[in-house]
Amino acid sequence: GLGLYGAERRNSRGYDLGEPGVPEALVAAIAKARRGDIVAAPLVGGEARGGKEEAVRNPATGAIVGRVIEADAAAVAAAVAAARAAQDDWSLAGGAFRAERLERAADLIEERDALFLGLAIDEAGKTLVDAIAEVREAVDFLRYYAGQARAGFTHPVALPGPTGERNELMLEGKGIFACISPWNFPLAIFLGQVSAALAAGNAVLAKPAEQTPLIAYAAVEILLEAGVPGDILHYLPGRGETVGAALTGHADIIGVAFTGSTEVARAINRGLAMRDGPIATLIAETGGANAMIVDSTALPEQVARDAVASAFQSAGQRCSALRLLCVQEDVAEAMIEMVAGAMAELNVGDPALLATDVGPIIDDEAQANIAAYVAEARAAGRVIAEAGRSNLPADGHFVPPAMIRLDAVTDLKREIFGPVLHVATWKAGELDLLIDAINASGYGLTLGVHTRIDAVAAHVAARAQVGNVYVNRNQIGAIVGSQPFGGRGLSGTGPKAGGPHYLHRFAEEKTISTDI
Ligand code: NAD
Ligand code: ALA
Repeated sequence: GLGLYGAERRNSRGYDLGEPGVPEALVAAIAKARRGDIVAAPLVGGEARGGKEEAVRNPATGAIVGRVIEADAAAVAAAVAAARAAQDDWSLAGGAFRAERLERAADLIEERDALFLGLAIDEAGKTLVDAIAEVREAVDFLRYYAGQARAGFTHPVALPGPTGERNELMLEGKGIFACISPWNFPLAIFLGQVSAALAAGNAVLAKPAEQTPLIAYAAVEILLEAGVPGDILHYLPGRGETVGAALTGHADIIGVAFTGSTEVARAINRGLAMRDGPIATLIAETGGANAMIVDSTALPEQVARDAVASAFQSAGQRCSALRLLCVQEDVAEAMIEMVAGAMAELNVGDPALLATDVGPIIDDEAQANIAAYVAEARAAGRVIAEAGRSNLPADGHFVPPAMIRLDAVTDLKREIFGPVLHVATWKAGELDLLIDAINASGYGLTLGVHTRIDAVAAHVAARAQVGNVYVNRNQIGAIVGSQPFGGRGLSGTGPKAGGPHYLHRFAEEKTISTDI
């Protein structure tokens, strides 16, 4: 078998939304599972703690979805103390023991997926298609890391050595991990980090993004129900600058799993370097300035389909999303026209409606920033296509998908985290200059390439300094176990989520050499 690469794994169940009646049945199940009463209170040692309740709002409608209580310093201190006392036993219990609990949680989430789909739509503004992918990815992470824990953390590995001596290598938990996640994959990335840290034998202090505490709370409830001890997994919602900083600055934290912006990753890295305590592990997955290279042999319909999906699905709020379409000059005009045509078909609006392709931007501040960026480009005469402007809903934070022309590939200086696609052209014979320019951005997350020439695809894939290369397809939606995901440089430290080396970064190695 493939061993570490997870040959025996199965992916989570999906839905055929093309089958008559399936979407309607799902919408009905989601409506039935909606809980208006969730109060995402800090969970320390399995107990909810009180405090001031704040409303969590639907980004598309402004409606209240639930309430959250920010963790205070006492909650953080109590969680650290409980985790410190319990972590050894959890690590010693072994990979198989932990895997059983994570697999039980995966089964429970699948059974109750309507609740999670509803929260992904209501709290995070996901369309139904995105919400389904979100829940499936979360379940896949749980099962994948459970399988890895069972394979790698149950028995020591025997190593060759001199006669008369037994040598073994084993993996164990490092200690207490802080897991800090973003709002754009509020279940999948939250649970991906948490389940990996747990699977490897660590205690976890989990802080979801401030915009999406409810779905994370529901996930923690399930992990506790599945038998993860309350002293091992603590839920500490709150803002980054308060709760996040308290966690990453704590001398008893041995590791931080962070997914979010490059800027915050840098701040956490600086903080870890300055604090007392052991030298901590930082696993950071951050932003991207992802390009797609299109040559003159590419199929225009396929480019249009894949560019539009990569740039605008999830309203462009994916780290993997396409930001910069690089089209060979000879075919640029026709290609851009086709992409603009596909953009014009997009429905922007309330993600609770099945017809919606592009939902809201997560909050006021993000919406205002993206809208201002597009307005500046419009004033400079650079906006060459915009979709869905005339029928935008009155409420909520929407930005219509926009295409912006650049003079040069290097003009894109930073990640614009929304439905904004930049386009630049390149000249025949200058492919290597183009690849160098893309690499020079310093980011290194995803890269798409569309060509009918295998040698061109292979050349681009070999020279691109990115984590994930996609050939003749879209460049979003990495599948756990099949497309291990994560970047390099300004896009993150690795190792790849949903890949065979991820758990090792959460683990200590111990060698035992015995005279026999
Ligand atoms: P963010 O960096 O603002 O926040 C991420 C998390 O960090 C949140 O939980 C936040 O509360 C916390 N945080 C903020 N300041 C902190 C501090 N000083 N100390 C500790 N924690 C702090 O990012 P976001 O807006 O939530 O997410 C969008 C970003 O995430 C984009 O840049 C996107 O590219 C990136 N992202 C990357 C990946 C990946 O796998 N590479 C996946 C998803 C999102
Ligand atoms: N893993 C997510 C994707 O591939 C970010 O789109």
